[in-house]
Amino acid sequence: MIKISERLKSLAKYINSQDNLMDVGCDHALLDIYLVQSGVINKVVVCDVNSNALQNGINNIEKYGLTNNIIPVLGYGIEKANTYNIDTVLISGLGSKTIIDILNGPNINYMYKLILQSNNNHYELRKFLVEKGFTIFDEEIIKDGKKTYINMLAARGEYTAEYSELEYEFGPILTKDPKNLDYFKELLETQEDLLFASKSDEIRTKVKYLEQIIDSLVNNQNI
Ligand SMILES: C[S@@+](CC[C@H](N)C(=O)[O-])C[C@H]1O[C@@H](n2cnc3c(N)ncnc32)[C@H](O)[C@@H]1O
Repeated sequence: MIKISERLKSLAKYINSQDNLMDVGCDHALLDIYLVQSGVINKVVVCDVNSNALQNGINNIEKYGLTNNIIPVLGYGIEKANTYNIDTVLISGLGSKTIIDILNGPNINYMYKLILQSNNNHYELRKFLVEKGFTIFDEEIIKDGKKTYINMLAARGEYTAEYSELEYEFGPILTKDPKNLDYFKELLETQEDLLFASKSDEIRTKVKYLEQIIDSLVNNQNI
């Protein structure tokens, strides 16, 4: 059984065996090998725009004898998703700008479920998802060395999601999970420093919001 990082492993729970899955920006394809070996899924298409990165993946797929299960594709973003009837896209280990770039095209309309792991600009990513008709069903903070990623599970729901500006910024799901108390305490410290330096009303609003979030998380922890 292949060994993969906790960052990659944290994505496996969002995948169901019925998903027609494409891992875009697969590089080494380690997660995909893990998904097949652990029986989460039987077939997965893996895609990368860089032929050297894709070759890394192909070498690993061959090494683990999974050429019947994992299909490598050289391509930009989800441009080739329709060829493989893809309905679920996974993109991990990237920044939100690149993730949006990968998803932003006519094929996004055929996608039902997105599993995304980004290390920055989460406000922009959430805005993009809602603009494209997705609702955020789960969010999770993942620390990996010095980087902090947020996992997002987004899918097309029965209703159109509506979030406040502060929920776009801090996460409609993250702000409700007592596990994230320390994360929000760190964010509050950063915003307080910014407020001290700038005295901006916008930052004052964020500080107030974070204080309320922290209060509610502390209360939930105590229940
Ligand atoms: C930092 S690696 C992440 C690898 C893996 N997903 C992970 O989480 O460890 C990013 C990969 O995305 C690929 N990539 C970047 N932009 C892309 C695009 N528009 N379409 C497909 N692949 C892309 C890069 O070539 C690179 O191999």
